[in-house]
Amino acid sequence: MSKTSEVAVMNGKEIYKRLLVYVKPYWKAFVFAIVGMAIVASTEVGFAALIKPMLDGTFVERDPFYLTFIPVALIGIFVIRGVGSFAVSYCMAWVGRNVIRDLREQMFDSLLRLPTAYYDKSPSGKLISKLIYDVEQVSDAASRALTILVQDTLILFGLLGWMFYLNWQLTLLFLIIGPLLSGMVVFINKRLRLINKRLQDSVGDVTHVAQEAIDGQRVIKTFGGQTYERDRFEIANQQNRRQFMKIIVTNATAVPVVQLVASCLLAAIVYLASRPDMQDSITVGTFMSFIAAVLMLFPPLKRLTTINAVLQRGIVAAQSVFEFLDAKKEVNNGNEILDSVSGKIEYRNVEFQYDEESNKVIDNFNLQIAPGETVAFVGRSGSGKTTLVNLIPRFYNTSAGQILIDDVDTQTVKLNSLRQNIALVSQDITLFNDTIARNIAYGAMSDATDEQVIKAAEAAHAMEFIRDLPEGLNTIVGEKGMMLSGGQRQRLAIARAILKDAKILILDEATSALDSESERHIQIALDELMKNRTTLVVAHRLSTIENADKIVVLDSGKVIEVGTHNELIEKKSAYASLHNMQFGET
Ligand SMILES: Nc1ncnc2c1ncn2[C@@H]1O[C@H](COP(=O)(O)OP(=O)(O)OP(=O)(O)O)[C@@H](O)[C@H]1O
Ligand SMILES: [Mg+2]
Repeated sequence: MSKTSEVAVMNGKEIYKRLLVYVKPYWKAFVFAIVGMAIVASTEVGFAALIKPMLDGTFVERDPFYLTFIPVALIGIFVIRGVGSFAVSYCMAWVGRNVIRDLREQMFDSLLRLPTAYYDKSPSGKLISKLIYDVEQVSDAASRALTILVQDTLILFGLLGWMFYLNWQLTLLFLIIGPLLSGMVVFINKRLRLINKRLQDSVGDVTHVAQEAIDGQRVIKTFGGQTYERDRFEIANQQNRRQFMKIIVTNATAVPVVQLVASCLLAAIVYLASRPDMQDSITVGTFMSFIAAVLMLFPPLKRLTTINAVLQRGIVAAQSVFEFLDAKKEVNNGNEILDSVSGKIEYRNVEFQYDEESNKVIDNFNLQIAPGETVAFVGRSGSGKTTLVNLIPRFYNTSAGQILIDDVDTQTVKLNSLRQNIALVSQDITLFNDTIARNIAYGAMSDATDEQVIKAAEAAHAMEFIRDLPEGLNTIVGEKGMMLSGGQRQRLAIARAILKDAKILILDEATSALDSESERHIQIALDELMKNRTTLVVAHRLSTIENADKIVVLDSGKVIEVGTHNELIEKKSAYASLHNMQFGET
């Protein structure tokens, strides 16, 4: 326990330093806020100080000056206080919201540059909760907690100073019991930090389970996964409640106990001050002003204990945010630009494993693809077809060996430039919740004209169904394209690839969701499209690849045969038996 919390404290300091970097651009507002805090604190002390002349001057001595001065001063104090606290609220919120915006911007930027492997490992719920929830928590620490820490510390010292001025003996008594209070605060502090870490994890778990249930609702329905999902959710939900309750219990116990100790202190002060030897030096005004100061110390003390919950939550959240910002980005240290490539591709002794511990998915793979050639990858599910084509746009980097495009090692090429030359229709189609036109003319192609989009959609045989939609190309496709059928989604993805008009085309099961009729139509379009570009096709339906220049048969990431359809059929080996299975020939 002590060891881990020491590490956390160290990190805590570093985190504050790093957060300050984000606050720095807004330091002027920050200074205004601090000035506001000083104003609020001084009015607090001023109010306690005003009690002495109010009682001694007004009620005891009936001094005419004080009779008018005190009421005016009272109003004045609260006017100044109002101005100060407005400045604090406004400026701190301004700084806080700006820091949130900056952090989110950086995080989103970081998100876009993460390697595919990072996404494989992190559930999207966790990533989203970092971006939404954790960042808010950080701002809480940056503004609310800080307001209380600075302002209340100022009030604390101001009031203590005033108390010393009034009577040092009574103040000393207060200072002896005071550390007891702060000791308790430190203890609570440590405990809250621990629980908060667990709370944050449990929030991520709840989001994650819920998200999976939402995304997978069809699978849950058809496979009767309700009980399993409900159990999973219940565990996460329970854990979340438990962690929240722990925080509440810690807070709810801490506050009354601290107050009890404080009331004992007050009793001791009253007892001491009323002893005969003290009575001469203490006027009614002095005593009441002193008591007022002690009483006014409680709220800031109380806030200083409760604020730890927010502060600690902020540290944990900031840690999570900074960890995310520091996550390794996609390796992009090549400088070469691939301009007007011919489309020659070479796999040279390529090895690949997803994890250092896991087995090689691709093992010593060699293949040369001439410009304009169509190469088909076939093989059992899990044999590494998708993996092989994913290596070309460097979604993953080879563990050993090279992939060359036009004899240039892709490792030495700028990622942007590399990917500009590749159009991809992947096994799982991605559509954005936007219009059909904007899904086809996505990203760098967004300035395509309507004619170009329609032409691409025609070629992909997508216009047929798009015309039937009420809004045509301007129809919103819904989240992940849910409003469309699987085949329609695939045709949009093909249209997108057609529009990109890149030299290298990758089709990973691009027509698997289509019926034979549509597939034949698209095949004609695809054949046209493949004509003067290098195409890598992955297909289970062998009928679609019979015309390929080369068919590469894979097994466990290794090439077992290469040849044209006719050559391989004649060889009567792996491909031929696959073919026979699909077509029932002997
Ligand atoms: N993101 C990943 N992380 C770890 N392992 C993976 C990942 N993706 C695939 N694998 C593993 O790599 C192997 C090859 O997968 P790959 O997706 O390349 O197969 P495939 O030939 O495309 O199969 P299919 O025909 O079913 O699409 C499989 O054993 C799979 O378990
Ligand atoms: Mg695959």
